[in-house]
Amino acid sequence: MTNPVSFPDGFLWGTATAAHQIEGGNTNNDWWKFEHTEGSGTAESSGDACDSWNRWKEDQDLVASFGLGAYRFSIEWSRIEPAEDEFSVVALDHYRAQLAYAHSLGIKPVVTFHHFTTPQWLANRGGWEAPDAPERFAKFVGRAAEHLGDLIAMACTINEPNVVAFIGYRIGFFPPGGVADKARYEVVAEAFCRAHRLAVAALRKAPGDFPIGMTLSMADWQVAPGGESKLEQLRSHMEDRYLAATEGDDFIGVQCYTRHVVGPDGVIEPEPDARRTLMGYEFYPECTGATVRRAAEVTGLPVYLTENGIGTERDEERIEYLDRAIRSAHGTLADGVDLRGYFCWSLLDNFEWVFGYRPTFGLVEVDRTTFKRTPKPSAAFFGGVATANAI
Ligand code: BGC
Repeated sequence: MTNPVSFPDGFLWGTATAAHQIEGGNTNNDWWKFEHTEGSGTAESSGDACDSWNRWKEDQDLVASFGLGAYRFSIEWSRIEPAEDEFSVVALDHYRAQLAYAHSLGIKPVVTFHHFTTPQWLANRGGWEAPDAPERFAKFVGRAAEHLGDLIAMACTINEPNVVAFIGYRIGFFPPGGVADKARYEVVAEAFCRAHRLAVAALRKAPGDFPIGMTLSMADWQVAPGGESKLEQLRSHMEDRYLAATEGDDFIGVQCYTRHVVGPDGVIEPEPDARRTLMGYEFYPECTGATVRRAAEVTGLPVYLTENGIGTERDEERIEYLDRAIRSAHGTLADGVDLRGYFCWSLLDNFEWVFGYRPTFGLVEVDRTTFKRTPKPSAAFFGGVATANAI
């Protein structure tokens, strides 16, 4: 039997989604094109997704019904700026209504400005390799924040720039795809760091007063005999350069799902009989503790776990994962880490990028044809933790 643990007053409990994964019909970005490109490897089209473009109120009602205090979602750049320099007031108003509704339910809206998708007009002229991509992004952020800033509770500039740069441009598994080029990766990694800084500056000028940060994909990097220098090399490449770009921010958002064990030749594959999630990687909920500690140590910033969760068909396994992950995160508080919140990925079973709809991360099941939402037992479990502020 594990011990009960309780969290400090004001600890923020939330859940997270991203526009392209839930809205549906986001036909004007690089992902939609990728999904419809022969040979891209994407299992299926995002299609109507969870129809959250229309059903966002129902989504927020669910968040409130679980007793959560925050909802992290992204605004879709390609809807707000469908053509270069052409901004849609209708799209901005749509997101403004979402922010206002969240406040009316007592939920803090946490807004992500870039969650993997880039408008097709920018992708057409080089995407994140276009020399002015960071400036274009900052312009969009500034324009959107001018319209929404007074209602934003927290802002995340770019979601996992390290994943977009590495998986997209170094291994070609995400858009633009078909490339495996170190030089291009370097250009994009630098562009994201610059884009983050420019976006922070644009947000600071916007109406409202809200904390601003980046959310980074991190892993618990563990060393196997002789792997010390390899681990340093891989980790600094995947994490440290981006963590360095957070100087002056208000928080760092940590997103973690598993661990990597590193030997002298690189990451060691888990044993064939290791417990795995539907994503193929190892079931390792305790990754939260190590990643939160490291993010705090390297940046000196307050930390939010802006994503953590599991793709599984067995909801009791999700409860086990969340329980262990939350306890592991809690362990950092005793060491004096300024951990301020935990967001479960994800509210809904949704479009899991190249894997399509198969890996189910949701606290809520979504019927693929009627879009009916059905909360799973894990939603009650997680809501219970949030309302008690304890396990
Ligand atoms: C991303 C999400 C994704 C989740 C689960 C994170 O890397 O931000 O968009 O669905 O992991 O794989």
